[in-house]
Amino acid sequence: MKVVKTIAEVREQVKAWKAEGLRVGLVPTMGFLHEGHQSLIIKAVEENDRVVVSDFVNPTQFGPKEDLASYPRDIEHDAKLCEEAGADLIFHPEPEEMYAQDYCTFVDMDGLTKGLCGKTRPTHFRGVCSVVAKLFNIVTPDSAYFGQKDAQQLAVIRRMVRDLNFDIRIVACPIIREEDGLAKSSRNTYLNTEERAAAVVLSRALNKGKALIESGEQSAAKVKDVIMEELCKEPLARVDYVEVVDADSIEPIKELKGNVLVAIAVYIGKTRLIDNFIVEE
Ligand code: PAJ
Repeated sequence: MKVVKTIAEVREQVKAWKAEGLRVGLVPTMGFLHEGHQSLIIKAVEENDRVVVSDFVNPTQFGPKEDLASYPRDIEHDAKLCEEAGADLIFHPEPEEMYAQDYCTFVDMDGLTKGLCGKTRPTHFRGVCSVVAKLFNIVTPDSAYFGQKDAQQLAVIRRMVRDLNFDIRIVACPIIREEDGLAKSSRNTYLNTEERAAAVVLSRALNKGKALIESGEQSAAKVKDVIMEELCKEPLARVDYVEVVDADSIEPIKELKGNVLVAIAVYIGKTRLIDNFIVEE
């Protein structure tokens, strides 16, 4: 497995693979990889002949007051994890390789980027769409792998692929969790011991909502109430949002029908964590 830093090296390698008729999978990441990322790589390895993992903390998706500078990085650890999972190439560019000094082109999406995380992070999805479109153009994969953990991101990427006619299959992978239920995240490293214990409230609250739905509840408001009630029991938790939306359009709904996304964002201390579940039609 190779780690390369330039777009030219990726293009050269992918061109050679494609000349042999090999199928190429892409797993976009911001590094500091854990079992969640690893599950995407393993799925990509199963479904493709060659797998590229991008490992790039993308500055354009962070707001001015967010954690770009402190975002954890460890390329040696990442390379080991990728190698074990069976990846073939890591693309680990410097910011200047991706963004020229006079860079000025962005992919801006209306509609489904405005709710949920888009409310507190108004420029986030513009950065995500732009970097993912660039990665798609650099790697030209047959398939690209994204986690259900970032459910709005997944819906946004699917819509971008449809709207901009990328000839790429998007594969959704389930959320990988810690034993106590906390969704794995690179940002979990920000939590101190007390906060880490408190963070389990996210999955506990979602499980209450899921149980209510399984018992036949159809009202989005009642599901939100039960989740909010559980979250409010945890003194270290500050709720950003609890939402029940259509899983494809990210539009709020009142009655549970179609594919429904139940999503939450909660600050535990200063760390903002997200989690969700999908109710399939
Ligand atoms: P990052 O947060 O590193 O996540 C990379 C991919 O791993 C995303 O598709 C995310 O949903 C998935 N992932 C993270 N934690 C997961 C978990 N516990 N279970 C399953 N999948 C999980 O998402 C980004 O990076 C960036 O926005 C990116 C798409 C790379 C663009 O910069």
